Amino acid sequence: MTPETPQKKVFIRTHGCQMNVYDSGRMADVLARDYATTDTPDDADLILLNTCHIREKASEKVYTELGLLRQFKDRGAAEGRTVTIGVTGCVAQAEGEEIARRARTVDLVVGPQSYQRLPEIVRAASGRRAPVEADFAAEEKFAALRETPPRKRGEVAAFLTVQEGCDKFCTFCVVPYTRGAEYSRPAPDLIVEATRLAEAGVRELTLLGQNVNAWHGEGPDGSPWGLARLLFRLAEIPGILRLRYTTSHPRDMDDALIAAHRDLPQLMPYLHLPVQAGSDRILRAMNRKHGVSDYLHLVDRIRAARPDMALSGDFIVGFPGETEADFAETLRLVETVTYASAFTFKYSPRPGTPAASLEQVPEDVKNERLYRLQALIAAQQAAFNRSRLGMEMDVLFDRPGKRPGQIAGRSPWQQTVHVPATPDIIGSVRRVAIDTIGTNTLSGVLADARVFEEAV
Ligand code: 5AD
Ligand code: SF4
Repeated sequence: MTPETPQKKVFIRTHGCQMNVYDSGRMADVLARDYATTDTPDDADLILLNTCHIREKASEKVYTELGLLRQFKDRGAAEGRTVTIGVTGCVAQAEGEEIARRARTVDLVVGPQSYQRLPEIVRAASGRRAPVEADFAAEEKFAALRETPPRKRGEVAAFLTVQEGCDKFCTFCVVPYTRGAEYSRPAPDLIVEATRLAEAGVRELTLLGQNVNAWHGEGPDGSPWGLARLLFRLAEIPGILRLRYTTSHPRDMDDALIAAHRDLPQLMPYLHLPVQAGSDRILRAMNRKHGVSDYLHLVDRIRAARPDMALSGDFIVGFPGETEADFAETLRLVETVTYASAFTFKYSPRPGTPAASLEQVPEDVKNERLYRLQALIAAQQAAFNRSRLGMEMDVLFDRPGKRPGQIAGRSPWQQTVHVPATPDIIGSVRRVAIDTIGTNTLSGVLADARVFEEAV
């Protein structure tokens, strides 16, 4: 007998980082007994907004979207259906009470540490005023989620949250307040979850954490493990062909992790290593706990271990007190490191964080700096992509391409690669000869197929 398909439907809208993407998947998993997922709010009985609080623009979106979602609730009511609306994620954590007060549309508010209780919260919420669940108990959360196996989704690449929260307290950042203290999930749980994913067809795992390289745990013999040991262990799981991890703090790149980039072929040569700014004075004001030369030295060591390593980063322009000279040092750092890609942000004051109360840089200055930094990074990214022309590389194919007859995958450096091929290559790593560089994608032909065609 096949299990019954739930009659009710849930639509989950995800904003923000990859951890929210992972969390949304797990929310769908815990709700799966009562709700099937749908990719439109039109026919949903439950709508969840998984929100981001990292910058002002992101958190303001919640209130705008809630306004728009009201129509689905009203339409449902006109048809005699109850549509339940919930807010989850970091805005729920940080502004739970305010959301419940401001937005009459909202039936429930659930912070990131309470997702395991979603089914009961949803049941309790139908027809009542918004319960607000926002306490910190990462351990309880993951222990409960562990009991819920992920549904098969046919994904080739998947996220696995190994660490959550942050104790670094950069002065601009809300994460230590919204995601709580640093917590590492136990290694045995991660091995079980990774094995399940591999059995469901996953070939590439991206380990997630706000400070993923601070992950620490114990091996089966009780010995202390760092992220490098965990990566080696996960690489042994049959079916796992590729590993990545994000996002890292420079302070937590230990020798073992750098050596793993040299010794573990499954670990991809692409590292997101945010530095935020290129001036020692600003790094100190940001409480980053490292200077420019520490970062540059670290990058040298990583590249010595893995010469084809590509780096990406995060940068904030217009942090309070940033002068033109400070900003010029950020440009200089970017020129020295050369990035394959990077995220750039204007500083956004966040309530409750130390930097929010400092004197702010004017908006037009921030805009102008952002523009200059983005131009430099775009040029570096284009140069990096161009440097792949004529190269043969391994590509993990994970989906049909946009055009008929095309299959798309990822290069070791996170670039999208298209080849003419049949869907049977999805889920496998194949050699590709790159012959075209587009703005955002690379194209080529299967190198082994080409050899075959030349031979016949
Ligand atoms: N303003 C602008 N950018 C921020 N980030 C975090 N907090 C802020 C803020 N208040 C950026 C950092 C971080 C990334 C996830 O978001 O660059 O690495
Ligand atoms: Fe935020 Fe800094 Fe922690 Fe990263 S390391 S999550 S930027 S406080």
